[in-house]
Amino acid sequence: MSDLEFSLLVLPSILASLLIFHLLAKRSKQKSYHLPPGNMGWPFLGETIGYLKPYKATTIGQFMEEHISKYGKIYRSNLFGEPTIVSADAGLNKFILRNEGRLFECSYPRSIGGILGKWSMLVLVGDMHRDMRIISLNFLSNARLRTHLLQEVEKHTLLVLECWKNNSVICAQDEAKKFTFNLMAKHIMSLDPGKPETEQLKKEYITFMKGVVSAPLNFPGTAYRKALQSRSIILQFIERRMEERIKAKCEDEDDLLGWVLKNSNLSKEQILDLVLSLLFAGHETSSVSIALAIYFLQSCPIAFQELREEHIEIAKAKKQSQETELNWDDYKKMEFTQCVISETLRLGNVVRFLHRKALRDVRYKGYDIPCGWKVLPVIAAVHLDPSLFDQPQQFNPWRWQDMNRGSCYTNGSSSSSTTASRSSSNNNFMPFGGGPRLCAGSELAKLEMAVFLHHLVLNFHWELADSDQAFAFPFVDFPKGLPILVQHKHNPFPTS
Ligand code: HEM
Ligand SMILES: *[C@@H]1O[C@H](CO)[C@@H](O)[C@H](O)[C@H]1NC(C)=O
Ligand SMILES: *[C@@H]1O[C@H](CO)[C@@H](O)[C@H](O)[C@H]1NC(C)=O
Ligand SMILES: *[C@@H]1O[C@H](CO)[C@@H](O)[C@H](O)[C@H]1NC(C)=O
Repeated sequence: MSDLEFSLLVLPSILASLLIFHLLAKRSKQKSYHLPPGNMGWPFLGETIGYLKPYKATTIGQFMEEHISKYGKIYRSNLFGEPTIVSADAGLNKFILRNEGRLFECSYPRSIGGILGKWSMLVLVGDMHRDMRIISLNFLSNARLRTHLLQEVEKHTLLVLECWKNNSVICAQDEAKKFTFNLMAKHIMSLDPGKPETEQLKKEYITFMKGVVSAPLNFPGTAYRKALQSRSIILQFIERRMEERIKAKCEDEDDLLGWVLKNSNLSKEQILDLVLSLLFAGHETSSVSIALAIYFLQSCPIAFQELREEHIEIAKAKKQSQETELNWDDYKKMEFTQCVISETLRLGNVVRFLHRKALRDVRYKGYDIPCGWKVLPVIAAVHLDPSLFDQPQQFNPWRWQDMNRGSCYTNGSSSSSTTASRSSSNNNFMPFGGGPRLCAGSELAKLEMAVFLHHLVLNFHWELADSDQAFAFPFVDFPKGLPILVQHKHNPFPTS
């Protein structure tokens, strides 16, 4: 960045934030808020740079650790150019999410709206959000998971795993991305994997993603600018697809595009943003979660072994009844798998924190949260809190068997922890957020992970080919893409 660009960017911001600081200082004096302790840092930049410094994904990072030990789990800061309350407090996080639309409201940085679109579900609030949400929930309903998605998920899993050669090194994160992208592209607009148009879309999408997670500097050559260009190419692509549909009068195609064309009154612009935001919400998160599971399992051979035994049992039963494809009953049998999935989401924290703002003055535990301030519920901090999860740094899927979640059996002999701590840990687990904006794809994400793990542990053994681990940038990513050496394992009950 040239000096000129730098000063063009930074000077007005500094002036603006000095003004805001001045106004806020005046307002807080008038009202005499009892703010949580904290440090507002530099004008405009505040503490943003420290907050966004990469750290190991299985931790909350040194920056936050220091702040919590200095100020407690609720502190004030200045992030993304705005005065902010950061919460690592389980109770406050739940309170924030439950009061969406009343005391707090979703509030992502403007750059996110710029790139995902103003009709994206992440930025919409109120009635428009509700309408879009209903469409997404319909589309991702349990009924559809059973009748359509399970089959598709398995097909796309096999398509990816079939290409893994014995004794080869593969990039696990890329493979997981291939899987979730193909699945979403198929499910959203009936694109088939491997076709030139799908590959082209994937390429644009990668550029697009880099911009979503980069600094929102709209200058020639920046990742953000390139992503804006990719956004318009992707939108043109989706639009073409939509027009072909309308022309060919085949709006009842069994995908999201077909569904919204037929069942909703959304404008073209709205449909485009919806499709793009579903692709975004459903692709990165679940692929990184799969990569995290692959990583944690290679570090914990007994969990791998127990997982493999569970899936061998399922495969054996299928062989005996001469079935080939996984069905819903098989999925329901994957109990230990659900524990592995929960533990992966707890320790890996694909989504670290959410963006909210206070709609009015709110008082919580004696602290004031002034109207208009940003509020960041850090869901990762709760998952890694030693007062809520015993030895939080340990990958321990068995902890979920004790937590009486219904999906995992309870081992009669292992009831050392008290009932109270069990159920409280339980409802402190919120990898998918909560309240009226709870992730619409949470069931699909778990299904994807379970089915992928099923075929993975049945057919492969793997180890790291090079040291790599997940970092929070704060988006979670394996810097080397998680290279693993895979070996075919003898599958005693192959599906086909
Ligand atoms: C392990 C994988 C996933 C994780 C950890 C995850 C996490 C989340 C979180 C935390 C939110 C709440 C954002 C907020 O409150 O500001 C969210 C929202 C959302 N997610 Fe997911 N997600 C995952 C997979 C998926 C999948 C596969 C889809 C399917 C398309 C999906 C679709 C959505 C949608 C549409 C929303 C917006 C919901 C709303 O605003 O009402 N997610 N996700
Ligand atoms: C769309 O709008 C028409 C007329 O404005 C209305 O009759 C119809 O019920 C609406 N459909 C949906 C799904 O909202
Ligand atoms: C569950 O209990 C059985 C005996 O009832 C014991 O053999 C087994 O090791 C226990 N498993 C775990 C994970 O605690
Ligand atoms: C894969 O390679 C390993 C070691 O090179 C060998 O022992 C094993 O039999 C091979 N597996 C298959 C299914 O070819």
